[in-house]
Amino acid sequence: MKKAVIRNNEELDYSGTEAMNTICSNLIFSGHQIKKIVTTSCTAGEGKSFLTLQMVQNLARRGNRVILVDADLRRSYLIRRYSIETEGEWRGLAHYLAGYDELSDVIYETDVPNVHFIPTGRDVANPVQLIDSPLFAQMLESLARSYDYVLIDAPPVGLVIDAAEIAKYCDGAVFTIEYNKTRRRDVIDGKKQLEQAGCPVLGCILNKVTFETISAKKYYNKSYYSHYNSEYYRREGGHGKNASASSSKGR
Ligand SMILES: Nc1ncnc2c1ncn2[C@@H]1O[C@H](COP(=O)(O)OP(=O)(O)O)[C@@H](O)[C@H]1O
Ligand SMILES: [Mg+2]
Repeated sequence: MKKAVIRNNEELDYSGTEAMNTICSNLIFSGHQIKKIVTTSCTAGEGKSFLTLQMVQNLARRGNRVILVDADLRRSYLIRRYSIETEGEWRGLAHYLAGYDELSDVIYETDVPNVHFIPTGRDVANPVQLIDSPLFAQMLESLARSYDYVLIDAPPVGLVIDAAEIAKYCDGAVFTIEYNKTRRRDVIDGKKQLEQAGCPVLGCILNKVTFETISAKKYYNKSYYSHYNSEYYRREGGHGKNASASSSKGR
């Protein structure tokens, strides 16, 4: 199997780790039949890919075999953002779905124990056609047999239809909502789209919250439609008060 190294792998601080532990515990206790999980949000930049990578690693640390599928076929950012490197040319989901590669040829073993990765391979102008092919469903079924969890990083549900198409084949969705940015109306619409695709929303993650703006350090909230408690969390050097620290790191 080909190898990939994640060079720019960010670590969560204590409160972020604690929140991620809760999110993943809730995911695990959604039931053992929940294996194929799509992550999405209303718009770009809310933190889906960041959180998906954190979820993948958290689940893997617990001994689960996990595969991350980058399904943002229009504009993949994962490889560049996290400096994921491999020897030779990347082959990925696009090559497999277009019929050029076997599934086994596009799976990479990463340097993170228990974590495998399928990159997009290349950007595609009209991914819906590819996602709609029987190969996509077959791939997810096959991965669900080999891995404990298949996490699919999808494009935003509010902008393009891809996420809803992907959701058709998944057991559940995790919805990322950027604090103080995403509109309630859009979240409700996004949730509706996923449910119409027959994919239950397992929970949502309220991301990029600054503790400075809310009085409690961490609290639970049964708002929205979440089966989880909403999680309020940030990373060290995150946003708000520490925004300058994060931008100085090049974000
Ligand atoms: N909780 C967070 N704390 C700090 N930075 C974050 C957090 N979540 C996401 N980011 C940053 O925000 C930017 C956008 O996140 P990304 O995961 O690429 O969004 P999306 O996949 O939804 O488009 C990235 O630079 C990422 O590192
Ligand atoms: Mg992304």
